[in-house]
Amino acid sequence: MRRLWGRGARGTLAARSIGPASPASAAHVAPVDGFFYHTIDLPGHDTILGAWDLRGDPDAYLGFVDFAGKRVLEVGAANGYLSFEMERRGASVVAYDLSPDLLGDIMEVPGLDLASFHERYRTTVRGLNRAWRYAHDALGSAAVLVHGSAYEIPDEVGPVDVVTFGSILLHLRDPFSVLGQAALRARERIVVTDTLNPPFTLESQERGMIFDPSLGRDPCSWWSLSPQAVRRMLEIHGFGRSSVYFHRQIFRPDFAPWGHTRPGEHTGPEITGTLFTVVAER
Ligand SMILES: C[S@@+](CC[C@H](N)C(=O)[O-])C[C@H]1O[C@@H](n2cnc3c(N)ncnc32)[C@H](O)[C@@H]1O
Repeated sequence: MRRLWGRGARGTLAARSIGPASPASAAHVAPVDGFFYHTIDLPGHDTILGAWDLRGDPDAYLGFVDFAGKRVLEVGAANGYLSFEMERRGASVVAYDLSPDLLGDIMEVPGLDLASFHERYRTTVRGLNRAWRYAHDALGSAAVLVHGSAYEIPDEVGPVDVVTFGSILLHLRDPFSVLGQAALRARERIVVTDTLNPPFTLESQERGMIFDPSLGRDPCSWWSLSPQAVRRMLEIHGFGRSSVYFHRQIFRPDFAPWGHTRPGEHTGPEITGTLFTVVAER
């Protein structure tokens, strides 16, 4: 197993979240009516800050895959920072994500007001879709955004060389089945990135998965996964040669789970989260 540290600074662990947005504060000036989960630089704008800033080490996040000439399916694209980074590296990208009519897996924890959670979740997904399209147009991208569930990837997507899962498996009730879907489509590689949370460490060899790591506080966070669990799932699906990379990325907790603002308007803390990326080949 290869271990590699990215360029991000060492620091505190942070959990990833996909839950619906809190209303943006007045200080958060939206350049577009959308949710920017990722920090992104777009022509004609100041940097748009989002909760996760992957700009320091996108290559580690993407497992140092050579994307030149590859057709890529990116499952869970959010506002697309990684879609456009892969495209910049020569990939033809099919970004794939939910739509307001098709939400992800919600854990119905006791006391959850499901109706209002659905409403906020819809707003969040609508905002992410809008932000992706906005960035796409601003960058003159040729990537396409297809809507659907990770459990049923439509035939129109066709075969691809690489499938990526950036910080989405933790949000799925059944990550094993979803990886199986990907294995049917990926000619070469599957790339899985997720947050490395305790009790898992860089040295952990157990194939562990912690159920409901936030103890119901985030009904969209189903699992905390270990790199070894991900490797084993991919091995069973026929992707038996894998490498693991560790990296740190910047997280702005007061944006969580979603946000948008501009540099200079943001005064909250920045921490770094430790993540792992598994790159598995057929
Ligand atoms: C935490 S964000 C990660 C964004 C990006 N991939 C990254 O690595 O930074 C998870 C994304 O997966 C999408 N998602 C969640 N559940 C999904 C599902 N069942 N099917 C398709 N997309 C899903 C969310 O809408 C969101 O855009």
